[in-house]
Amino acid sequence: WAMHAPYVEAINKLKRERGAVILAHNYMTPEIYHGVADVVGDSLQLAIEATRVEAPVIVQCGVHFMAETSKILNPAKTVLMPDMEAGCSLAESITAEGIAEMRAKYPGAPVVSYVNTTAEVKAASDICCTSSNALQIIEALDAETIIMTPDQHLARNVAKASSKRIVWWEGSCIVHEQYTAEEMRAYREADPEVKIIAHPECTTEVTAEADFTGSTSGIIDWIDRERPKKALLVTECSMASNITDAFPDVTFQKPCNMCPYMKMISLEKVLWSLHTMSPEVVVPEEVAIPARRAVERMIELSR
Ligand code: 13P
Ligand code: SF4
Repeated sequence: WAMHAPYVEAINKLKRERGAVILAHNYMTPEIYHGVADVVGDSLQLAIEATRVEAPVIVQCGVHFMAETSKILNPAKTVLMPDMEAGCSLAESITAEGIAEMRAKYPGAPVVSYVNTTAEVKAASDICCTSSNALQIIEALDAETIIMTPDQHLARNVAKASSKRIVWWEGSCIVHEQYTAEEMRAYREADPEVKIIAHPECTTEVTAEADFTGSTSGIIDWIDRERPKKALLVTECSMASNITDAFPDVTFQKPCNMCPYMKMISLEKVLWSLHTMSPEVVVPEEVAIPARRAVERMIELSR
């Protein structure tokens, strides 16, 4: 921590001077999560929090689609993204043309796009979802066939729990798709006491081995409620590091796959971003308006 202290201090001072609020995802490094974030959460929580920001500036500590979502939901704010290269394998896997392709293949079926998509893809979709509300959104739609994009694994996991016909785009998260069911069984064999907690971006073979599957905040809530002695977090590395201190009676095991995009965000880049007030995320109005409709519909339906 000592090595981070000068940056943490400088960021928190400059943050006040600039009137900035730092929204940080649960996968940020502990020094960002605990040192400088004003709000932490999963994708849905961060989207809702973005609508509530009154300060003039938002610094998004997460990946690019999250900054776009904040800008879409609160367009009057300056939204800073400490590294514009911080993308996401899911967001990169589909374009608006891909959505049109799916609509042509399944005429009349509504398109539910994961928030892990570009603003253009959101604009071409009927509604968004996150990993915490996907099933709820699917069940609320008045349709028997539903197109889910771009995460095939989230779609497959939702399809297991829903009676509706779900068809999907073949995208995946490069972090979660690496976990295997054999690995899970080996962990359980080595320690039958361990609770396996997975993210729904994992394959259905992996989630079938899990004691609980949920969004990053769903995982935190489950641990808070169940207080397992030992927990294996089958998600991005930083999750376990960030919550270890909050649950001193839980021993966390982390298979540890790192998201290279999330890890592009560093204290140095946050400080530089606040110093230069750049790079700024801008979404053209003609894209922002339909994209906002899709995200706001999701927020409405998840209440
Ligand atoms: P949630 O925090 O919504 O579970 O999303 C996980 C993720 O991979 C975000 O990129
Ligand atoms: Fe995208 Fe996966 Fe990284 Fe999340 S963890 S930003 S879904 S690549």
